[in-house]
Amino acid sequence: MALKSFRDFMKEAVERYYSSERALKDFFTAPELDRAFGEALAEFLAQYLREFEKPALVELGAGRGILARDILSYLERNYPDILNTLTYYIYEFSPYLIERQRELLKDFKNVIWVSELPKVEGVIFSNEFFDALPVHIVREGRELYVKDDKAPIWLSLENERVKEFLHRMGYESLNQIVEVGLDAVDFLKKVSESLREGYHLVIDYGYTSEEITRFPEGTVVAYKEHKVIQNLEEIIKYAGGVDITAHVNFSALMEYGKDYGLEPTLFQTQRDFLMHIPTFLNELEKLSWEETAESVERLSRLKTMLVSMGDKFRVLLQRKMS
Ligand SMILES: C[S@@+](CC[C@H](N)C(=O)[O-])C[C@H]1O[C@@H](n2cnc3c(N)ncnc32)[C@H](O)[C@@H]1O
Repeated sequence: MALKSFRDFMKEAVERYYSSERALKDFFTAPELDRAFGEALAEFLAQYLREFEKPALVELGAGRGILARDILSYLERNYPDILNTLTYYIYEFSPYLIERQRELLKDFKNVIWVSELPKVEGVIFSNEFFDALPVHIVREGRELYVKDDKAPIWLSLENERVKEFLHRMGYESLNQIVEVGLDAVDFLKKVSESLREGYHLVIDYGYTSEEITRFPEGTVVAYKEHKVIQNLEEIIKYAGGVDITAHVNFSALMEYGKDYGLEPTLFQTQRDFLMHIPTFLNELEKLSWEETAESVERLSRLKTMLVSMGDKFRVLLQRKMS
């Protein structure tokens, strides 16, 4: 009987899912809600990009390319000096999505697709990328595996790196499901090696160690046509044809980031993050005075970013210390 850890199973399922046309059907992100998100982010990023003579932006997992388009268009209109010296790298593993991105971004000459992170000065950032990285699932000394016939099975926890993670994060005595994102930790190392100087910005839904007990059954879910599947057996059954994700453990990103010289300099809810960016506030104010159907619709989308997504999504900025 062949067995795979849930981590290996999730890795394959996520890769299969994003390489197919399904990848455009099940997820719906803040930049896709309204351009105000990408514009606010561009305004925020511009303040950091200024520090560098030849800055780079590296976007991890660019989806349909909408966030890239909104950031580049905003810089073109408001900071042409920055855009003229900027290289925009996209790190993306889905050939299917790369094609969509190339088509959407064809008017921007400074966009480069990469399969390895380049050495840069600037900002590496992502929105809803880390939640797609696979996780080990453990519960009280046992780890979840998946059999050939897709039956889940709990076996004694033997993985030393997973044990070390539980110890370091103070999770050993928790009587609940805990997800261990070693791939996220490994990715931080890549980010750090890629940054000669600069910042790493993560926007995603997630939690901190203080909040972990709010998720006794863990946070892994699958999205199928915008419906959420929470039952692990069902998630495993549909794997490959559904978007499987895990909430991001921001405490782990902060803790392990320090091993690679990534110092947390800002950690906020998405709501607080957006409410501190003048571009976003101005848009909110402008829309609230207008009475066209489109403005009312847009105002409600901006509110979604602040209210239903506002607390669930977090923003972490890490600075690479040389
Ligand atoms: C939910 S989408 C987010 C898209 C976009 N950032 C947005 O906010 O609309 C996740 C993206 O990350 C990419 N992705 C997921 N795991 C990846 C990996 N291990 N390496 C490279 N890209 C990955 C997917 O193909 C997809 O483009």
